Amino acid sequence: MKLYFLSLLFFFSLILASSTPASAFFVVNLTNYHQIELPKSVVGPESIAFDCRGKGPYVGVSDGRILKWQGPCRGWTEPRKICDGSTDNTTEPICGRPLGLKFNPKTCELYIADAYFGLLKIGRNGGRPQQLATSLNGVPFRFLNALDIDSQSGIVYFTDTSTVYQRRLWPLSIATGDKTGRLLQYDPCTKKVTVLLDNLAFANGVALSEDSSFLLVAESATFKIFKLWLRGPKAYDVKLFTQLKRPADNIKRTNGGEFWAALNSLRGLQGNQTSPSLWLTKDPVGVKFDEQGNVMEVLDGEGGPTLESISEVEEHNGKLWIGSVVKSYVGVIKS
Ligand SMILES: *[C@@H]1O[C@H](CO)[C@@H](O)[C@H](O)[C@H]1NC(C)=O
Ligand SMILES: *[C@@H]1O[C@H](CO)[C@@H](O)[C@H](O)[C@H]1NC(C)=O
Ligand SMILES: *[C@@H]1O[C@H](CO)[C@@H](O)[C@H](O)[C@H]1NC(C)=O
Repeated sequence: MKLYFLSLLFFFSLILASSTPASAFFVVNLTNYHQIELPKSVVGPESIAFDCRGKGPYVGVSDGRILKWQGPCRGWTEPRKICDGSTDNTTEPICGRPLGLKFNPKTCELYIADAYFGLLKIGRNGGRPQQLATSLNGVPFRFLNALDIDSQSGIVYFTDTSTVYQRRLWPLSIATGDKTGRLLQYDPCTKKVTVLLDNLAFANGVALSEDSSFLLVAESATFKIFKLWLRGPKAYDVKLFTQLKRPADNIKRTNGGEFWAALNSLRGLQGNQTSPSLWLTKDPVGVKFDEQGNVMEVLDGEGGPTLESISEVEEHNGKLWIGSVVKSYVGVIKS
C-alpha cells in the first residue's frame, strides 16, 4: 500500500516535472540598464505612455502633472500647475495623481485614470484635461488606478481600486482586507459607466487582448490576475489567468499581443519570500505572459534597490521602459 502510494507520487512528480520545464523563459537582467531622472523633487512615474507618433514617454508624477520626455538634450517638458514639485501625499486630493496613462492610437487622445479626478482625456494638441467620468450611480470613484482602450469602439476599461480608501491611504486597503475594488467600462457613445467585475481585493492593472476578446485585470492583494471574456460564447465569464507570488501592478500589452505584468515587489513588506528561488528567478519584478498565461520572459531585479517597487513595464522600440509609483526616475533596458 505504502509502496503503491510512493510510486504514484513518483509518477505524478514525473508528470509535473515534464509539464513545467524549469526555465523555458528568457531572463532580462540589468546589464543594459540606464535611467532617466525626473525633474527635481517629483517622484512616482507609475505609468508610461507613448503618443501615436511614438514620442515620449509621457508619465504622471507625484505633483499631479503629466510630463513628456523630449530626449536627452531637451529633457522633460513640464506644464505649469498649482502643485509644482510636490511629493506631499496629503495634498493629492487637490493636486490629483495621474496613475494610468494610455493614448488611443486612432485618435491620438491621451486617456488618464487619475486617482482623485476620475477618468480624464487630453486632446491631441495637449491642453487642459476633460473629465469624462467621475462617479457611478451618483457615488464618486475613490481610487482610479489603471486603464486600457479599445481603439475601434473607443470603450475605456479601467479600475477603481477601492470604494473606501483613497490612494494615499492604500496600505489600509491591504491591511483591512478591503474587497471593494471594481473593473469598470466607459462607453464614449452613451457616456455611461458600467461595472464589469466587483468585490476585487485591490483592483489594479488592466489590459485588453489584441483582438479585444478578453481583458486581464490584476487583483493585487491576492497576487492574482483574472481573465474576463468580453465576446463569444464565454462572454463575461471570468477565470484565474495566473496566481503569482508577488502582487501585480500594471499590465501592458506588447505589439506582439503578449502582456508584461509589473510585480510590485514590496520587498520586506509583503512579498512572499517562501522559497523565492524556486519561482522564476530569485527576484522577479516583471513577467511577460502569452495569451494563455505561459511565462515568456522574466525581468530580474537582482535584489537591489533599482527595480524595487516597480509599477509598469512597457515594451517600446526594442526597449523596456519601467515605471514606479515611488522612484524618481524612469528605468530603461535595451534588449
Ligand atoms: C545578463 O544578460 C546578458 C544579456 O542577455 C547576458 O549576456 C548575461 O550573461 C546576463 N548576466 C547574468 C549575470 O545573468
Ligand atoms: C505619504 O508620505 C509620507 C511622507 O513622505 C510617507 O511616509 C508615507 O509612507 C506616504 N504614504 C503612502 C501611503 O504612500
Ligand atoms: C507564499 O507562498 C507559499 C508557497 O507557495 C504559500 O503556501 C503561501 O500561502 C504564500 N503566502 C501568501 C501570502 O500568498
